[in-house]
Amino acid sequence: MKRIGILTGGGDCPGLNPVIRAIVKKSSVMGYKTVGIKDGWKGLIHKDAIELTEKSVSGILPKGGTILGTSRTNPFKEPGDTKKAISNYRKLGLSALIAIGGEDTLGAAHKLCKMGLKVVGVPKTIDNDLNATDFTFGFDTAINIVTECIDRLHTTAESHHRIMVCEVMGRHAGWIAVYAGMAGGANVVLIPEVPVDINEVCSLIKGRHKKGKTFSIVVVAEGARFKKGQEVVQEENLDAFGHIRLGGIGQTLADMIESKTGYETRVTVLGHIQRGGSPTAMDRVLGTRFGVAAVDLVTKKKFGQMVSLSGNKIIGVSLSKAVSKLKTVDTELYDIARTFFG
Ligand code: F6P
Repeated sequence: MKRIGILTGGGDCPGLNPVIRAIVKKSSVMGYKTVGIKDGWKGLIHKDAIELTEKSVSGILPKGGTILGTSRTNPFKEPGDTKKAISNYRKLGLSALIAIGGEDTLGAAHKLCKMGLKVVGVPKTIDNDLNATDFTFGFDTAINIVTECIDRLHTTAESHHRIMVCEVMGRHAGWIAVYAGMAGGANVVLIPEVPVDINEVCSLIKGRHKKGKTFSIVVVAEGARFKKGQEVVQEENLDAFGHIRLGGIGQTLADMIESKTGYETRVTVLGHIQRGGSPTAMDRVLGTRFGVAAVDLVTKKKFGQMVSLSGNKIIGVSLSKAVSKLKTVDTELYDIARTFFG
């Protein structure tokens, strides 16, 4: 009987549990056993795993986070870890491993696959920045949360005649900012793909005042940076995959807006609220489709592939394509958002 390992790595994300549930259910239909590996690659390195049954995944569909736990452990960082991961894959008697994660988890999956493990990937991230898939699950939940927050900021901004700066996640891509900014009717949306021109931002806000709109909502992605400037970071230390911790641009921007326009400005940093809680129906369905399709790839022995949403179809794409580059916001979409600036 086939034994399929499942792990979730990187930042948690609404929709992970629907994927796990779908993999376990479809595997059971196919007559496969499933093994949950705890805390991403860390669990494979330490052989920390549990048998998963339909009973263990019962009731997890609406739950946020991941029942398997997660970590940002990189199996290629510490000497000896890669060897341990490969050896434990064999000791656990796995016939295949389904890795659910973003560019880091899937990058490691791709490397391990080249070293002989039979791996299939599932794209996860609220950032929606993974190449070779139209959308990742988790993104829809995140933009719905952010949109609701922008709606709430609107009412207080309007009452106090204030400028409200809302800092959102997304790392080096502005998908969350653009989608939620457009959905929430933000007056300015700033993204990493387009350097921030503070004079332009202030003139858009002043223009609104001239039209009698004495409040403004500015959505800024955490990875946005000023012209000729660097990204604003929370700490200089890099994580195991070489990422810096972004955050703080909202406050810097709010200070500049207040000093240049004279209008009272407040900042809200949404942080991890954006990826907490129950997944939306869209994310539950996308996660479920991805989970079932991942088991299909295993059945067809299509290792080294990732399930992907292409239009309205779920297809298999190579992991190498998925991790080759980041998917950033296209000009066409940002131009539409721009139409509503000011
Ligand atoms: O990749 C998801 C994400 O939430 C990013 O948007 C954000 O920059 C990062 O993870 C935050 O990471 P952590 O949870 O380690 O603070």
